[in-house]
Amino acid sequence: MAVDPESYKAGMRCLAAGVCIVTTRSPNGKRNGLTATAVCSVSLAPPTLLCCVNRQSGSYNAIHEAGVFAVNVLSVDDRSLAERFAGLVAGEERFAEGSWGILATGAPILESALVSFDCRISQAVELPTHGILFGEIEMVELRTAAAGPLLYAHGDYGDFATLKGTVG
Ligand SMILES: Cc1cc2nc3c(=O)[nH]c(=O)nc-3n(C[C@H](O)[C@H](O)[C@H](O)COP(=O)(O)O)c2cc1C
Repeated sequence: MAVDPESYKAGMRCLAAGVCIVTTRSPNGKRNGLTATAVCSVSLAPPTLLCCVNRQSGSYNAIHEAGVFAVNVLSVDDRSLAERFAGLVAGEERFAEGSWGILATGAPILESALVSFDCRISQAVELPTHGILFGEIEMVELRTAAAGPLLYAHGDYGDFATLKGTVG
């Protein structure tokens, strides 16, 4: 029996996730990025993670063509950046807020992120609507932050305290 899309979406809203900004830089220097929760650890050897990106999004082709991306894991203090990179503003203007640097690949690294993983695409699997991008991690920048991770569940942002007991 086919799965009703509303049940799928309601079910996935229960899957609390850390919020990340996935970024890339084209060979011509153009930066792209989007807010993403579909990020997952894959393996330690080789150090690999994956992220799932909508193929319709402006960032997908940019990441795919550049062959590199960075995953910046947000703290609760960077909620406004999450909103910004989820569509509040577009393109290069997204990077007007926050402090951005680079590590090994040239993909934009958010200096206030809890951790940034700098990756090179090792494999890409294209599904009808989304691409699964496997990134071999070339560098990890881990920062000590007082703030906890920014979470997303039930269609809202929060942290471990505020999301506890939320029903949607
Ligand atoms: C909390 C949250 C999580 C999201 N996670 C993803 C994701 O994992 N993959 C994805 O393709 N889009 C995700 N999105 C949607 C993109 O952030 C949004 O469509 C963005 O505007 C795409 O930008 P672009 O078209 O400029 O690339 C998420 C949005 C929000 C608010």
